[in-house]
Amino acid sequence: MGFRIAGTGHYVPDRILTNADLEKMVETSDEWIVTRTGIRERHIADPETATSDLAAEAGRRALQNAGIEPGDVDLVIVSTITPDMPTPSTATVVQRKLGIPPCMCFDVEAACTGLLYGLDIAHALLSSGQRRTALLIGGDKLSCVTNWTDRSTCVLFGDAASSLVLQADPAFDGDFYVGAEVGADGRDADFLKIPGFGSACPPTAEGVAQHLNCITMNGPKTYQMAVTAMSQACKKVLEKTGVRADQIRWAIPHQANDRIISAVAARLGISERIYRNVSRFGNTSSASIGICLDELNRSGQLQKGDLILTAAFGAGLTWAAELLRW
Ligand SMILES: CC(C)(COP(=O)(O)OP(=O)(O)OC[C@H]1O[C@@H](n2cnc3c(N)ncnc32)[C@H](O)[C@@H]1OP(=O)(O)O)[C@@H](O)C(=O)NCCC(=O)NCCS
Repeated sequence: MGFRIAGTGHYVPDRILTNADLEKMVETSDEWIVTRTGIRERHIADPETATSDLAAEAGRRALQNAGIEPGDVDLVIVSTITPDMPTPSTATVVQRKLGIPPCMCFDVEAACTGLLYGLDIAHALLSSGQRRTALLIGGDKLSCVTNWTDRSTCVLFGDAASSLVLQADPAFDGDFYVGAEVGADGRDADFLKIPGFGSACPPTAEGVAQHLNCITMNGPKTYQMAVTAMSQACKKVLEKTGVRADQIRWAIPHQANDRIISAVAARLGISERIYRNVSRFGNTSSASIGICLDELNRSGQLQKGDLILTAAFGAGLTWAAELLRW
């Protein structure tokens, strides 16, 4: 039995928020944002658009790209930190919106690392023979958990969703999953979080006024942890699989910040084959790696057999590096 990435898709809302727009909202400048992060613009959803709308559209595009009908899907995983609501899962909402028949559907919460966590789980379910066709989606409407008065975070994030169709296929001679290093260390949970409104900090009017439903972050600490976690995970996965850095066709790090990407690239020694699009989307959480894969796929820059090294980090602190074969 072979396992393949049968299709990719992504969706971003039409509305673009530029650095010039942000200059009118908080005390910042295009120059500061570009030099510190590499971000020039990000897409922002309308108030009436939910994460499931972004996710369903990305999923629809991936299914079309794969040439697979919704009726063939028997596993839906959505990675998100901005679910439509605490329950039911956004995966079940997406299932309904796409007309996918009854099957296993659930959400993964591993922040920006979520798509790679989902990829690991989906591969395990496919390779054990329990499922045949998985729709994996990373989607977030981060604009609804952004404090638009906090210049240290509001310049960083954007809304988006991306999707992969993963399939067990007896006619395919290969396996998209070469190896992975996936982990988390909860001791670092306080550096990046949304403090409210879960069971530990239920919603109150005072909490809303204090923006407790929004992302708070120790930027410099998160930066250091991101570089260390992603480069160590990449080195471990290369070691485990016996693949050399010069054999990698594309490296796709989580698109959080251009400087983090460059620091990881320098540590791995593969600066030229690093895919970057953070300037156009900002940090889109677990959508980011799937957007890169979809752009590479649709622009014909992936050949069968290409090795792709993905890496991500996120709140928790979570991290993952996964070596994929196209
Ligand atoms: C957020 C980040 C870009 C800030 O860059 P930095 O070089 O670390 O900047 P600092 O936080 O040290 O702040 C430097 C100064 O810029 C100021 N500043 C912060 N945001 C600003 C903004 N948008 N515009 C202008 N100035 C800003 C700070 O107030 C500080 O001023 P001070 O020196 O007078 O106190 C960087 O820390 C980062 O990218 N961290 C990782 C974030 C991340 O990836 N998070 C998502 C994880 S999935």
